[in-house]
Amino acid sequence: MKNKSLVSINDFSRDEMIQILDIAEDFERQPHQNLLQGRVIASLFFEPSTRTRLSFESAIHQLGGTVIGFSSTAGTSVQKGESLKDTITMVASYSDLIVMRNPIDGSARYASEVSKVPIINAGDGANQHPTQCMLDLYSIRKTQGTLENLEVTFVGDLKYGRTVHSLVTALSKFNTKFNLVSPVELKLPSAYKRYIKEAKLEYNQYTELNEVIPQSDIIYMTRVQRERFPDPIEYEKVKNSYLLKNSMLEKAKQNCRILHPLPRVNEISTDVDDNPMAYYFQQAQNGVYVRQALIAAILGLK
Ligand code: CP
Repeated sequence: MKNKSLVSINDFSRDEMIQILDIAEDFERQPHQNLLQGRVIASLFFEPSTRTRLSFESAIHQLGGTVIGFSSTAGTSVQKGESLKDTITMVASYSDLIVMRNPIDGSARYASEVSKVPIINAGDGANQHPTQCMLDLYSIRKTQGTLENLEVTFVGDLKYGRTVHSLVTALSKFNTKFNLVSPVELKLPSAYKRYIKEAKLEYNQYTELNEVIPQSDIIYMTRVQRERFPDPIEYEKVKNSYLLKNSMLEKAKQNCRILHPLPRVNEISTDVDDNPMAYYFQQAQNGVYVRQALIAAILGLK
């Protein structure tokens, strides 16, 4: 992993994913380690973020590193028309590692091709969100005790949801049974179904959520993302497709956990928050340990 960019979850083998989860467990036990003394990490967010940006920054500060960067392009020379290539070339000369979120699919791969320092993709358009995927895997393993042989239900925007795309790809390596719940317009793209088929695993598609709740080990809720729709009328048609309420969890398995990459808008009722099955806030907290592990592994420090 040393000096490798992380652009897609496919950049990691199954063993590498497990290795990162093990390192993250070590950081959860001991998050303050002075590993990044003298290192500069650039955090370039061309698109809004709360969890990803701030958990990366928290991870870096807790390891004694320094962060430079921006949380929006306002006030940067991107506003004057500077290209992504020139921006990355410059920032790579000021830092040891670049974390980048960008609204354009494929931008992280391009950045990794022009950068002399490793790139960590913090989300590129509707394509991939591999660090979210690693914290999702961490949360699943922590709550279920295993990643193997689980039944995982994905709900909502499976078409544009980059967290879904990364997690389906990763879980295809762990003998998962997939339930894909979405409006017809937001079905999982065939490119990702191909990963499931190639692994000879089972998936079933639904439009109703209630029927799959009793059999699910994990229910992975997602937001229908207004910002990804080319046509606002299409967004209006599907925006309120699913709302998980506490009463719907009566028949859920004891071990079932509710995950959501967040932010939620209106797909999980706040009456679920006090249910022991709700795990989305702890899931986001796990992001700090996983991002510490990723930075340490990529910089060759663990
Ligand atoms: N899960 C996630 O990517 O959240 P943010 O957009 O707040 O970073």
